[in-house]
Amino acid sequence: MDQHTDKETSTDTHRSLCWWQRAVIYQIAPLSFQDSNGDGKGDLNGILHRIDYLTWLGVDAVWLCPIYPSPMLDFGYDIADFCAVGPQFGSLADFDRLLEALHRLGIRLLLDFVPNHTSDQHPWFKDSRSSRQSPKRDWYLWVDPAPDGGPPNNWLSRFGGSAWEWDAASEQYYYHAFLPHQPDLNWRNPQLRAAMADVLRFWLRRGVDGFRVDASAVLAEDELLRDDPPNPSYNNSVPPPERFSRVFSDNRPESLAYIADMRAVVDEFPDRVLAGEVQGAIDRIGRFYGTDRPAFHLPLNYVLLDTPWSAINLQAKIDAYLNAIPHGAWPDWIIGGHDKKRIADRIPAGQERIAAMLAFTLPGTAFFFAGDELGMRGVKIPSDQIHDEFEKRVPGYGLNRDPERAPMRWDSGPKAGFTTGEPWLPLGADVAEHNVTRLQNNQTSILWLYRRLLELRHKHPALTAGEYRPLRSINQILRFERVHGESALLIALNMSSEPRRLETARPNQILLSTELDREGCFDASIMLRPNEGVILGSSP
Ligand code: NOJ
Repeated sequence: MDQHTDKETSTDTHRSLCWWQRAVIYQIAPLSFQDSNGDGKGDLNGILHRIDYLTWLGVDAVWLCPIYPSPMLDFGYDIADFCAVGPQFGSLADFDRLLEALHRLGIRLLLDFVPNHTSDQHPWFKDSRSSRQSPKRDWYLWVDPAPDGGPPNNWLSRFGGSAWEWDAASEQYYYHAFLPHQPDLNWRNPQLRAAMADVLRFWLRRGVDGFRVDASAVLAEDELLRDDPPNPSYNNSVPPPERFSRVFSDNRPESLAYIADMRAVVDEFPDRVLAGEVQGAIDRIGRFYGTDRPAFHLPLNYVLLDTPWSAINLQAKIDAYLNAIPHGAWPDWIIGGHDKKRIADRIPAGQERIAAMLAFTLPGTAFFFAGDELGMRGVKIPSDQIHDEFEKRVPGYGLNRDPERAPMRWDSGPKAGFTTGEPWLPLGADVAEHNVTRLQNNQTSILWLYRRLLELRHKHPALTAGEYRPLRSINQILRFERVHGESALLIALNMSSEPRRLETARPNQILLSTELDREGCFDASIMLRPNEGVILGSSP
């Protein structure tokens, strides 16, 4: 887009990449970022108020979790109007102002698009529910009871209990993959598909740069409503919603065609991106780029969050993922999100900086979640303050997503600079240590590491356009190269809490250490400190 000031680029190859291929994308959960009106919940004007921080940090794009009108039973993923802004977040005018301000600074904006379901408060559902004759009846999945009067089949909601909810007035069940308050839309219906395409166009015309598509693999269910088979790995420690393998209720081939339709709409507008939440094992991820027609530019890849943290495991999983995506497809890496335990809680203490260096130097687009750059951990939530319906309905399995959704910390004041009111979730005990102001004042902090990594990505085309060359990871040091023209960068990450010697074939220069306290040249061997990672360039 013309109004964008592109970040520094220095070669043609680098420049010929799309913006989203070079990008590091910052996920913001608006509810938890910055409150501007004292109601204890973050909003769009709050994000605008913190816009200088986004520039200081150097992110290329922002992805906002849902900002639409919603009863907020699922963090805004229960949407009552796809083409408006929820009053708790602000207004459409606030949205336009934020988008314009971001674009002026060269920062793109992605919205969350939630095609699988609406809130039961959406006018479409109210209409659909009103009678079997409603013109919108078929926009949702309504099915007659089984002969015994029970649900039509054994499909389970991910959030607990049957996926079928009885509607006494019209004497049919409706299907919901998530909460009963989130009825599934029927993507087989062409009018519904057309209406959803118009939702995308509504926001694309307003100037958004793309979408993250929610729960895209569950869009379609088996037309024959066949029962799901028992899950062979089910036992007492597995949450009850996983009792059956979702063979017929999930990942149906039709979903891919619907995603390709979305992509065609996005392609009506220049320079936009479609990223998508997809489910399943790595070997399935490739198909979400599209088979006969293009689908997602970026099916989201959670390998770095889901792999046991060691050099040997990561080198295998990174390799498996890169081999699983089609030739020419663009990879991506994620180290945080609103549904995932914080990275700092998943990996051995001291490895948080390594995680950032890894995600931002592997080939592809990188995503992180607001607060990761502060080294935030999940916040302990007292049982009487739990918000997440998932935890309330399926308790005792560690499923609560509130800990990672706790508010951002801006300073060490009583409300962490997040609000003047009562924060909607607790701020956590370690605000004094992990807050933006404190970490900005310390140039060797993890926050500065994020900033320096983003700066380096903008400066070195090898980190965006460079060829990826894996090296053998030995001695608990994960190693790979990024090579672009004359420039070769070696990334070496000590994944142990012991010092480890790194031998290199030639003299090198430290461009960046995760500790931010050393630079300069060395001959062919260097001692990496515990948990230290380095980006090395060839010595002049
Ligand atoms: C995926 C979202 O990321 C999650 O937060 C939500 O609960 C489900 N979709 C249902 O909308």
